[in-house]
Amino acid sequence: AFFGTKKLSKDQKNYELLLENQVDFIQSTILAGIVDNKSNKLKNKLKKKNKESESEGSDSSSEIADIDMKEADKLLTPEEKARLEMQQGRDSLPVFPYRDDLLKAIRDHQVIIIVGETGSGKTTQIPQYLHEIGYTRFGKIGVTQPRRVAAMSVAARVAQEMNVKLGHEVGYSIRFEDCTSDKTLLKYMTDGMLLREFLGDPKLTGYTCLMIDEAHERTLHTDILFGLVKDVARYRKDLKLLISSATLDAEKFSDYFDGAPIFKIPGRRYPVDIYYTKSPEADYVEAAVITALQIHVTQPAGDILIFLTGQEEIETCQEMLQQRTRGLGTKIAELIICPIYATLPSDMQAKIFEPTPPGARKVVIATNIAETSLTINGIIYVIDCGFAKQTSYNPRTGMESLIVTPISKASANQRAGRAGRVAPGKCFRLYTVFSYQQELDETTIPEIQRTNLGNVVLMLKSLGINDLIHFDFMDPPPAETLIRALEQLYALGALNDEGDLTKLGRRMAEFPLDPMLSKSVIQAEAYKCVDQALTVCCMLSVGNSIFYRPKEKAIHADNARKNFFRPGGDHMTLLNVFEQWKETNYSTNWCFENFIQMRSMKRARDIKEQLVELCKRVEIDYADEKLSTIDDELYTNVRKAFASGFFYNTAKLSKSGNYKTLKNQHTVHIHPSSSMFETLPKWVIYHELVFTTKEFMRNIIEITPEWLLEIAPHYYKKSDIMEEEGKKKVKMPGTAK
Ligand code: CDP
Ligand code: MG
Repeated sequence: AFFGTKKLSKDQKNYELLLENQVDFIQSTILAGIVDNKSNKLKNKLKKKNKESESEGSDSSSEIADIDMKEADKLLTPEEKARLEMQQGRDSLPVFPYRDDLLKAIRDHQVIIIVGETGSGKTTQIPQYLHEIGYTRFGKIGVTQPRRVAAMSVAARVAQEMNVKLGHEVGYSIRFEDCTSDKTLLKYMTDGMLLREFLGDPKLTGYTCLMIDEAHERTLHTDILFGLVKDVARYRKDLKLLISSATLDAEKFSDYFDGAPIFKIPGRRYPVDIYYTKSPEADYVEAAVITALQIHVTQPAGDILIFLTGQEEIETCQEMLQQRTRGLGTKIAELIICPIYATLPSDMQAKIFEPTPPGARKVVIATNIAETSLTINGIIYVIDCGFAKQTSYNPRTGMESLIVTPISKASANQRAGRAGRVAPGKCFRLYTVFSYQQELDETTIPEIQRTNLGNVVLMLKSLGINDLIHFDFMDPPPAETLIRALEQLYALGALNDEGDLTKLGRRMAEFPLDPMLSKSVIQAEAYKCVDQALTVCCMLSVGNSIFYRPKEKAIHADNARKNFFRPGGDHMTLLNVFEQWKETNYSTNWCFENFIQMRSMKRARDIKEQLVELCKRVEIDYADEKLSTIDDELYTNVRKAFASGFFYNTAKLSKSGNYKTLKNQHTVHIHPSSSMFETLPKWVIYHELVFTTKEFMRNIIEITPEWLLEIAPHYYKKSDIMEEEGKKKVKMPGTAK
């Protein structure tokens, strides 16, 4: 066994318990290609580089900075000292010695592929370098990130480094949150937001330079951006294009961008020892907790990074760690637990970057956001569960669900690499060496090949790109998926027989929402319930985090939740929660008493404010004539509005007691969290499918089958909703060309 070498006295029961439940690891390999004793060579090279820049009049070599620091102790205010330290930090990043070479390369080439290890300073430094030499004189520098958390935190960091207020010279823009101003020169944003900017300004005239960052992640939006920016660069020769990536397969990017040169930033990496479990772990959250505690009690100082798949697991892990460290008493060093995932509020996100106080140890519990987009300094130990949540789409059934999937070898190695940034590290893989070698794919499949393309097709269509089959994709999506997206948009009424955007489609494209949701909101106008539909839409958008259910008060929490139930289904329940909260004037106390997560509610309110603005812009009658009281008619209307967007997701209770989707006869189940879990209505429409132990429908409404004929007469025929068995098979609607 790897752990448990430390002798502990008999009465320290808790320690013993810890060691009893060990996860057995065997060390297998040392990660190839790391440092390979080059770190010294690199240091020399760095020194040389610094000397060179010194002679060019730069004063930023590390030695000079060291001397400055001593002087600074006496002469500077704490703020000034902090600034100096920050500057010193900037100048010691791996990218710094290459600053001038990089700038020259950018001057000489329109498109450049930049490759560098995570943490080398690509995202935070390169845009600043460009700013420093004047690229922002005639426009902005835009930097895209696949993840919202990364966009926010990196912008905050850069604002701090430049000593400006976030939102002024440096800002960020993510869906439903625009933290930029007229002053903004460096704009960090999600890839989806830049895609939206194309709608308003297809030439991106506001930018002098674009950095498509984290290109290796190959998110759907980044992949689409590749095609669009490549095109813009052709007729805007003044636009600089940087494609940056943390992995070495840059050739592919280079090939795609007509042979653009590759600029490699040599990273600094220390060796990482890899440990695998002897046998597969049944419960990787439990195994992660045990491993973290074992590291904590037996291993030298250094922070821990745990990779799990989502918020729920992260919270469970956090709770377990808190509980078990409580039992350890004061003999053990403090363990600071920091969760990080996409919907975590930004003040709490900032916590993961705070330096660990001496004597304590930090454990960061993250989704794969910490794989490459965020660098946390001080990590020595990585615990990798081997899984990540991925969307998976089946074009045949039209069903998309989030599934916990094994990661790829490339991801596993990225995760391990996080342990070797500051010193030699250790990575504990909660899976066997056999799994790693035999069961993991080499690389992750690009998202574009495993997701529903409805949104993107709508957007491309509104950009006037009609021939999607011949769009310049780096890796084209399966033709079937494209056709399915076109079919769905056609069924929603966003495209006409010719495959051209309809007026409805144009309005739908304005909303930063899924086509099914935007259709529901637009359709709500006819049902005079736009306000309510928007509320439901926002409540659905904040995800699965409205109700709070602490373990020790589970019964109270469940009762509180049940009190919110309303006839008609979960959408009505969500509406009811929001309306009641509004009546208390958005009270915090009310949330607390009713086991409602205040943060999620606030977010829903924020989103709603923005959608209300959007409605005004696309001239949707949002306030007039609305049905003001919550009554049966309103409930029916809201459900009809959602049915007009989601009619595709209809399921019917079959004789066997299961639900079957109407179109594909696929077996699905009502999620236990649903208000309809016990009522089992005959006809339902679901908001989404989640696959855990079974395929669950989450957030459902009860419908009357006749509505389907009223709402989607082109899609459902009378025979679809007739009772008798053996009715003829449903035909697909005409495929848009
Ligand atoms: O983009 P790349 O992975 O190459 O590196 P980066 O994100 O620019 O990070 C460079 C340095 O800034 C790292 O040492 C990070 O730890 C640090 N950083 C930070 O302290 N706080 C942030 N919010 C972001 C970066
Ligand atoms: Mg980065």
